[in-house]
Amino acid sequence: MSTYWQAALKTHWGIEADLTRLDGEYDLNFLAETEGQAYVLKVMRPGCEAEFVALQCGAFGHISASAPDVPVPNIVNTPSGENYIEVSDEAGDRRLVWLLEKCEGRVYAETLPKTLALVAEVGAKLGAMDLALADFTHPALARDFKWNLMQAGWIRDALDAITQPARRALLGEILAEYEALLPVLTALPQVAIHNDLNDYNILVSGSLTAAPHVTGLIDLGDMCASPRICDLAIACAYLVLDQDAPEQALAAAVAGYHEAYPLTGDELDLLWPLVRMRLAVSVVNSTLMAKETPDDPYVVISQAPAWAFLEREVEDAGLLRARLRAACGLAVVEAAPRVMAWIESERGNFAPLFGRDLSDAPMGSLSVENSASPINPFDLPLEEAAVVGTEYDIEGGIWLGYYNEPRLIYTASFFRRGPWKASNRRTVHIAVDGFAAAQTKIYAPLAGRVHVVEYRPAHLDYGGVVILEHATPAGDKFYTLYGHLNPELCERLSVGDIVPKGALLAHLGDKTQSGGWAPHVHFQLALTTDGMGGDWPGVADPDEMYLWGAVCPNPAALLNLPDEKTGYVTRDKEVVQAERHARFARNLKLSYAEPVMLLRGWKHHLFDEWGRPYLDAYNNVPHVGHAHPRIQAVAADQLKRMNSNTRYLHPAQVAFAEKITQKMPEGLDVCYFVNSGSEANELALRLARAATGGRDMITPDHGYHGNTTGAIDISAYKFNAKGGVGQPDWVQLVDVADDYRGRYRRDDPERAEKYAAQVNEAVERIQAKGGKLAGFIAETFPSVGGQIIPPKGYLPAVYEHIRAAGGVCIADEVQTGLGRLGAYYFGFEEQGALPDIVVLGKPIGNGHPIGAVVTTRAISEAFAQGPEYFSTFGGSTLSCRIGTEVLDIVDDEGLAENACVMGNRLLDGLRRLQGKHAVIGDVRGYGLFIGVDLVSDLVARTPATDVADYVKNRMREHRILLGCEGPFDNILKIRPPLTIDEEGVDMILAVLAEVLTEVDALSA
Ligand SMILES: Cc1ncc(COP(=O)(O)O)c(C=O)c1O
Repeated sequence: MSTYWQAALKTHWGIEADLTRLDGEYDLNFLAETEGQAYVLKVMRPGCEAEFVALQCGAFGHISASAPDVPVPNIVNTPSGENYIEVSDEAGDRRLVWLLEKCEGRVYAETLPKTLALVAEVGAKLGAMDLALADFTHPALARDFKWNLMQAGWIRDALDAITQPARRALLGEILAEYEALLPVLTALPQVAIHNDLNDYNILVSGSLTAAPHVTGLIDLGDMCASPRICDLAIACAYLVLDQDAPEQALAAAVAGYHEAYPLTGDELDLLWPLVRMRLAVSVVNSTLMAKETPDDPYVVISQAPAWAFLEREVEDAGLLRARLRAACGLAVVEAAPRVMAWIESERGNFAPLFGRDLSDAPMGSLSVENSASPINPFDLPLEEAAVVGTEYDIEGGIWLGYYNEPRLIYTASFFRRGPWKASNRRTVHIAVDGFAAAQTKIYAPLAGRVHVVEYRPAHLDYGGVVILEHATPAGDKFYTLYGHLNPELCERLSVGDIVPKGALLAHLGDKTQSGGWAPHVHFQLALTTDGMGGDWPGVADPDEMYLWGAVCPNPAALLNLPDEKTGYVTRDKEVVQAERHARFARNLKLSYAEPVMLLRGWKHHLFDEWGRPYLDAYNNVPHVGHAHPRIQAVAADQLKRMNSNTRYLHPAQVAFAEKITQKMPEGLDVCYFVNSGSEANELALRLARAATGGRDMITPDHGYHGNTTGAIDISAYKFNAKGGVGQPDWVQLVDVADDYRGRYRRDDPERAEKYAAQVNEAVERIQAKGGKLAGFIAETFPSVGGQIIPPKGYLPAVYEHIRAAGGVCIADEVQTGLGRLGAYYFGFEEQGALPDIVVLGKPIGNGHPIGAVVTTRAISEAFAQGPEYFSTFGGSTLSCRIGTEVLDIVDDEGLAENACVMGNRLLDGLRRLQGKHAVIGDVRGYGLFIGVDLVSDLVARTPATDVADYVKNRMREHRILLGCEGPFDNILKIRPPLTIDEEGVDMILAVLAEVLTEVDALSA
């Protein structure tokens, strides 16, 4: 068949192309490819009316002419200038045939990820298309057919085909709601619309390095005249289907459309019922088709997503209406602007909430940035809730808590918005708090009718609470809520009671009455209770403030205060970044395409300025976890006493040295304390030189030992980097013992010895230039080199060669030491090697700057021949206390054992992912020192740098921090604090699986 139409294309258009059949319900569609251009050849079904093709050609032409930014296919006329022609098919039937240029991109249905930005762009392009079509007319637009949403009522007669009673009832409800809205819908202008922007009619670009964009809106085969909101509803019915948060996708699509072609609030209110109706039509239609073609399982399968969506629990329809309006910047309810104007006009005239003027009442911030409360941002115990903010308490006074303030005190699971601890959570306070002594009286700022009065005694709930309904003189309703009150108000007040302006309303509850909180009133304004009833959220997700800020605006005016007084302004990340840019050097790099600003931490989680949690799978400095209470306590305790240096005796110095040497093999028993890993490596070099009288060093390529002059000289990762200082004449490089992508691989049983033998060649080079060997230094498991685990036996063989040549052996254990590897406290134990000098760094201080060098008595004696050794801050009393505490915590909390168990769980999961995703070339590591080598070709092991960068940034968008390493930056580096638990490991694996599926889609 293709050959026939290939010839027709040549005859009528003069185009020689290869034809491939495309899907099509009734017509024949072919992809026609020439060398430089792709086309779609459309051969209409026999009997198709010319008017119908003329309609589509006319509409495409009209859109292209009036909205060149809307990506629709161009029509390729025949050489004689016709849009379409009539050709006989092989059976002799007359067929209308036309040719379109093919739009670039893959279909939206097969696009991953379907980001909200992409959904918004689909909305925007559809809006622009509808705007272009607004003045397009054609007689064929008036069509009666099943896909015209205005005529969707036909499904009523077909509902019997739905055999499951629950499903039939559900469709009945959707239909009834639709029929009730029909008069409103019918009153809207009926204009030309696309009418079928399903996920196969949208084309999208996008790659690992370029964000997706809409490149084509195709197929006008279902065009008709209908209200434009139907066009948007049909598109939305597909856009929401596989979204985790459909209400957010709807808001994004609608906001995009509105920006291109503004909608009215009334139109928006129709959207959700129409979306559901379209899906109802879809499932009824496919049920009927399944009856006709019972052997085609696809018909039933294809209904599944629509059913799943219709049957899932979604946001209340009233709240959704408010959301869609807010997403478009429209009033959440028609009366909202009038209510706000009236409240504004009365600012200063409301009865005082506390019976007194609050202009002088101080504000107290409980924000993520300003407050260290709660200690554990995942669990606020009652004792802590009872004293929240007491630092702002002035005897007998009143202080106010901010509106729009992100806080970490909302720790209960119902504040969480996803399955993980690091999922989004509701943090932003959308009320003003008035803190005062328990039983302080509060008064109604304005007259109202009791709408809700309740006692909610649950832990951290509202305690006694009352909601008043108010009306402006024009009759517009709004509401105020007062929470954490003495529940005696439930005995005094009943729903429907009228409370006059200035009347005593309630007393602040004490902690036994207020839900457990320090005594205060939570005072909130709402312009609608649609979708919330009496159960108002008092805090909102920071990413949803467009909605909650509009439903519950700052109530300052009702307190006779200016908005600026009570409105919190969260520090703007962009401003901080600009300031940093102005003050700091350019080569001080930030992680991520979109940097993060992190203000709090707890164990293996971090929190940004809005209180969004992140799982920290990257930072090894907080070895025993962020903000460990024992570290806080020991640091505070020592700073209260004094902090001095090693020129004076102090028991803490010897205690720290004792603790470290206990962990070391016999013979490594002399400690030096410094401030960093860099300084420790500098000192290690001096020790090696003092012990041997040599100067030359041997080190593996792509190593890192620190940022000081000497440390950089032995760090090929830095001296060989672009603009680096180059390799010094006293440094010899050997290969990293990488048996995955290096010179000698896992199939070579002698690889360890072969890599080790390279140091002999290096020794020969030193001798040849008349130098003298001082020693060998290596990160035991090279980290920036790509989380490499050298083959067993490598290090002992190296050490043997080095010692035979008169050198000493330095193990840089900054990355690998102190239990991170799980089964081994130090990396050299895994290798069965015994170094002469061990370097320890950052994890030993858990964030406090500490480095240490441990060596033999003999080496230290040689060094002692030289000048006095002293480091002012190295071994400070504070450092020694903190360092000892860190090592004790590792032991007391069994963190090495945890690293072992969690590391194995993670490694197992990663290996399962490796079986599913060809992009994972290698998974390696011990404990919580893990590398995942990403490749674009499994056989050639070609580094997939773009993939690694994509994964790192997408994981961050999913709130997981990890890094990329290796000479090609293609190795995912997973190195969390040792506190990580099953939940954290499972989150990494689940999110990585999702992101790798995106990678597969983007690379297909
Ligand atoms: C293996 C190794 N050695 C030394 C250092 C330098 O430590 P610092 O940054 O504390 O000077 C680092 C830092 O990342 C390191 O990874």
